[in-house]
Amino acid sequence: MRASLSSESPEVTTTAGHLTSTIAIADPPALTTGAVGTPRPRIEGRAKVTGTARYAADVPMPDLAFGCVVTSTVSRGRIRDIDTSAVLHMPGVLGVIDHTNAPRLNPEAGNVFGPHGGLHLLQDDEIPHAGRPIALVVAETLEQARAAADALPVTYDQQPHDTAFFADHPAARSAFSRLPDPVKAMLGAASQDANVGDVDAELAASAVVVDERYSTPEEHCSAMEPHAATAWWEDERLHAVDSNQGPFNVARVLATLFSLNLEQVRVRAEHVGGGFGSKGLCGPQLILAVMATTRFGRPVRVTLTRKEVFLATAMRPLTEQAVRLGADADGHLRAIEHRPAYSSSPLGEYIEFCTEITKTLYAARAIRTQLTAVPVDLLPPFSMRGPGTTTGSFALESAIDELAERLHMDPLELRLRNEPTVGPVSGLPFSRRNLIPCLREGARRFGWSTRDHRPRMRREGHLLVGTGMAAVSFLSGAFPSSATITAQADGTFTVSIAATDLGTGARTALTAIAADALRVPADRIQIRIADSDLGPAWDAGGSRGTTSWAWAITEAAAKLRQELPGAAPPVTVTVDTAQLMTDQPARERHAFSAVFTEVTVDPATGEVRVRRLLGMFAVGRVINPLLARSQVIGGMIMGLSMALHEEALRDPSSGRHVNADFAGYHIAAHADVPDIEADFVPDYDPDDPSGIKGAGEIGTVGTAAAIANAVWHATGTRHRTLPIRLDRVVEMDPLR
Ligand code: MOS
Repeated sequence: MRASLSSESPEVTTTAGHLTSTIAIADPPALTTGAVGTPRPRIEGRAKVTGTARYAADVPMPDLAFGCVVTSTVSRGRIRDIDTSAVLHMPGVLGVIDHTNAPRLNPEAGNVFGPHGGLHLLQDDEIPHAGRPIALVVAETLEQARAAADALPVTYDQQPHDTAFFADHPAARSAFSRLPDPVKAMLGAASQDANVGDVDAELAASAVVVDERYSTPEEHCSAMEPHAATAWWEDERLHAVDSNQGPFNVARVLATLFSLNLEQVRVRAEHVGGGFGSKGLCGPQLILAVMATTRFGRPVRVTLTRKEVFLATAMRPLTEQAVRLGADADGHLRAIEHRPAYSSSPLGEYIEFCTEITKTLYAARAIRTQLTAVPVDLLPPFSMRGPGTTTGSFALESAIDELAERLHMDPLELRLRNEPTVGPVSGLPFSRRNLIPCLREGARRFGWSTRDHRPRMRREGHLLVGTGMAAVSFLSGAFPSSATITAQADGTFTVSIAATDLGTGARTALTAIAADALRVPADRIQIRIADSDLGPAWDAGGSRGTTSWAWAITEAAAKLRQELPGAAPPVTVTVDTAQLMTDQPARERHAFSAVFTEVTVDPATGEVRVRRLLGMFAVGRVINPLLARSQVIGGMIMGLSMALHEEALRDPSSGRHVNADFAGYHIAAHADVPDIEADFVPDYDPDDPSGIKGAGEIGTVGTAAAIANAVWHATGTRHRTLPIRLDRVVEMDPLR
């Protein structure tokens, strides 16, 4: 079925400017329409800008009622009383659902990976964290529901809370210690700490050692569209339009939670205004909307407020990461040790994979990782763009820069010198490793070769100027999905897959993939996505959406092309790749990138401005250069925002999130973002039928470290704590 694609491609030596590097050229596709590789705007772009695209809170619905959430104001304790009688008489109020009258959720819906297995909302009087949804007030209008929710009297039996995360917390334990065996089996090597060689002996033998700690704060996904769901019962089936990243998996969790058969549940997510990981779960908006429509017998819509999105959906956990590096005087790494701790929750197991990047990026005689979870009384963490890799990369790539500093070496040269030939921990070959072309081409375009590597050497007026960089790897691969294609009598094709388009352009990319796979022009493809009735499909998550869906579409197209000759249309084929993924080659499969940046620092005000940001990416085959660029520059902006702005703050005495809005929780705005240059080196994953690796998250990774490294270069001061706030930068002595 994959005969049209060769499994290996030639490597050629190319000359890029003054630098010569070996770049893997793209495997030529056998026969295409040119749809893949052509920049095209989003199919639904017009519908979005003209306002006709319906999001989960926009779907017209007769007899609709509205639910508003009430959240806990204490961080730990029990609900003593919710005085519903105080609001039941208020205008339009239909009722209140709380732990005393909510439908019982199936305890079998596990909680592995935090909320992914199901949020067990309103099941008892226990308060596990501030912001926990404890009631839903349902009314005829949104305003009536809000007014009653705000007026609902709640009293608590408060207990002492523990919301202070730190690495040496007494509750700290191995991140993997409570993972069930089937989950461990699924994760493979990712569910184990690395331990190769003798780290202590190699550190002792090293000419130069870095031994530092890095920390990152609580962050939030902040998608433009707040989480919303509209749910109703129709023809004995539960229907929902919900903002999520994977309607099939959400439908599965929902069915389990409410003890329904999967066939009784239909979840759609036609248009989604960003997710960044926070919509990868069966969210509180959906669970509460389903409870309410079941209880009141009419359609119910629940839209979280911006504050509730902060309080009750998902957060990037805080991390504190110890890194030790040892190297010979010539820069060859002897030892890499990375011991991150992150905040977790007693409510469930979530792994922040900070150390995956450490197992991939550099060769060293000894590599040891130790990932630690610290359960505290905070909102359970969940994936936020590049989960684990983004936080882990800040620590590792800052430490590498510190090593270069102590070696008096060019940090680019240090990285080139430690390029592995096989997986540094696994010993497995790389499917295709194009980090060096990213580093070299990025350096050439950036003008890195003229850099004076000493800090605090460049000034422009009162500003200090510095440059910095980081290298990145990001796991790739496909997950099982199913696709259905129908050849219509009029020569058009309907392609159906439960993919989600978070605004990334997935619809448009998949249309191009289908066109090429079917060998027809893209205008003959009609694509249907984001409906759990279309069958199993991977989420728009883990940067694996396009990879996973493209595989299913490609296989379905090949099967259809075999069956079509002589058949009378309409002809329909369905393929599920679950059966095709059994004998995957054992390889290290990653996308790679290099990030370069130039910053200015005002030593008097502490203001850091990012003046230039450049990323070179090896993300496998690029399906649509316009949309892929949009993905990676969006990712880099998120990384910039992480470096300089984002930080959820908690009042230690209450444990409450005190900046749960866009006035207090700063995210990068237009004026913070410079012109960004982003481009792709030729790349192709030979283990993927379409050659794709994935571009969704990699842009975020590396950017924070590159900026922190540039701030050091400008000022001579290391910032090992994010964000690099004004007060952390400001230099009080004006004569310095
Ligand atoms: Mo992503 S953080 O895998 O949606």
